[in-house]
Amino acid sequence: MCGIVGYIGNKKAEPILLEGLTKLEYRGYDSAGLTILENENFKTLKNKGRVKELAQITNPENLAGTIGIAHTRWATHGKPASVNSHPHNDNSNHFSVVHNGIIENYHELRKFLGEHGYRFLSETDTEVIPNLIHYYFSEGNDVSKFGFLKAVKKATEDLTGSFAIGVLSVDFPDVMIVVRKDSPLVIGKGDGENFISSDIPAYLGFTRDFYLLKDYEFAILSKNTIEFYDNKLKPIQKEVTKINWDATSAEKNGYEDFMLKEIYEQPTAIRETIGNHLCSDGSLQFDELNFSKEFLSQIQKIYIVACGTAMHAGLSAKTMLENICEINTEVDVASEFRYRNPLINKNTLCIFITQSGETADTIAALKLAKAKGAITLAISNVEGSSITREADFVTYTHAGPEIAVASTKAYTSQITLLAILVMHFAEILGKNSEILADMKKSILELPAKAEQLLSDFSEIKDFAHEVYSSKDVFFLGRGLDYNSAVEGSLKLKEISYIHSEAFYSGELKHGPIALIEKDTLVVSTLTVEDLLEKSISNIQEVITRGAKTLVVTDKELAHSNFTKMIKIPETNKFLTPILSIIPLQIFAYYISKEKGLDVDKPRNLAKSVTVE
Ligand code: AGP
Repeated sequence: MCGIVGYIGNKKAEPILLEGLTKLEYRGYDSAGLTILENENFKTLKNKGRVKELAQITNPENLAGTIGIAHTRWATHGKPASVNSHPHNDNSNHFSVVHNGIIENYHELRKFLGEHGYRFLSETDTEVIPNLIHYYFSEGNDVSKFGFLKAVKKATEDLTGSFAIGVLSVDFPDVMIVVRKDSPLVIGKGDGENFISSDIPAYLGFTRDFYLLKDYEFAILSKNTIEFYDNKLKPIQKEVTKINWDATSAEKNGYEDFMLKEIYEQPTAIRETIGNHLCSDGSLQFDELNFSKEFLSQIQKIYIVACGTAMHAGLSAKTMLENICEINTEVDVASEFRYRNPLINKNTLCIFITQSGETADTIAALKLAKAKGAITLAISNVEGSSITREADFVTYTHAGPEIAVASTKAYTSQITLLAILVMHFAEILGKNSEILADMKKSILELPAKAEQLLSDFSEIKDFAHEVYSSKDVFFLGRGLDYNSAVEGSLKLKEISYIHSEAFYSGELKHGPIALIEKDTLVVSTLTVEDLLEKSISNIQEVITRGAKTLVVTDKELAHSNFTKMIKIPETNKFLTPILSIIPLQIFAYYISKEKGLDVDKPRNLAKSVTVE
């Protein structure tokens, strides 16, 4: 995920900006850059590579300016390259912008600006922003700093997508303007100096007083003042938030654990994974794959190979590939696949899903598949990891670094990316176009629905307090609901150490129901419309035998005999596992907290299983 920082004060801005970027490195990035405003001119320096490499370029410049903005970029639109790094300036070098987020309608905006004489140096979506600001400032007749603010507001009104931006202007060398929508931005209030950043840790070493900007709130910062405006540019007052975190909790951005932070980062991770693969005009693109219809048409079998949570993401992909692309698909755990002599030929596509890109069994399975002549595609969250270097093709989730051992945002990002990939394949193959329209619309709505889900989890937290001493917890699901059942069960067992198993609901009567007794806890996801009644009767069977039940559903269910029911927003049926898992992640998290366990580093587990 990109990171932005800014400084305005009495000290040299360059070292302060670099320090801020260093604190944001955990967000993951591939390039960095900064703009210093000095003598009413911009000095914009940027580089593909690490912050320390940027410092090697900026330090010798002895940049004396005391106002600047800087950025770490995780490539979404346009490959990692200096020219695509931020800050981006308008053609006349009057405005310099750093941006975190995704501008979905940048194609249209480039076209509009091109018709008005603007040209673009980069492949990025961001570069439309400074040129839009220039366009509106030039068009307006207000050369005051309020004219600058109005130009920024008009520019952001044209943007579809998410943004947190910091803007400088050579015409107003004593101010910086910021605004956000969906992407995070905070303002640090200092003494004779002020700061902006994507999150608090960047400048907690300089101040503990922060303003937390809300969507469409604007601010004009000078070194001694911060003026706030609402989305009608009416002046507003904001309360300072005093941050009393220690250094460790600062890394977690105020969350108690990395896992909780990463659960709450899922809307952003989904949004950034969608990135430039699906634009608001409905166009799909995977520049990194360029698969033709002829290439896809000759694929007779797809294997999806992974471990643990990544394999569970593959279960959802299987349903989508078979129902939408109509290609025979099999999901296998890598540790079995690599030893069972799978039937593979040149018409086999093997998809390897791996957050770390370093899982030993998955690497071995990939090498076996290649040796047998398969076409191999890796889906990973870590650029340049072993598996991404070994596979014929690779495409990335943009979940940002996942620190907690229990995978959450990587999982939902994997299903998101797989769904877009399936739509891309189906479009190339000319299959089921009527399904695609709703999927495209629904997937763009997912981040907001995930945010809605995350807005209040008190019910789940209270229920976890009631049942955390359970000795066994069983998860039930049919069809796509089974995917959340098995993933929810893994989350619970790996961080709470409670014995848990997931069953296909239809399998209950074939043995597992013998395990059900009074107060046994059974968790079930109920979202698959055409299996609903059968699934409900399965739950009634365990209730009859005394079980307590937690049900996660997107349906209006009349059944009042569930012990606890959690409602999730509706979405396209193929995408429901992305939402139905979130309450189960939170459930596992709070049970582990109730037991006083180390949520982020569970016993016996490693984040990446690099040995067999
Ligand atoms: C999931 O919470 C676990 N951390 C584990 O199952 C993990 O998904 C599995 O080890 C695969 O890791 P990978 O995605 O990095 O290959």
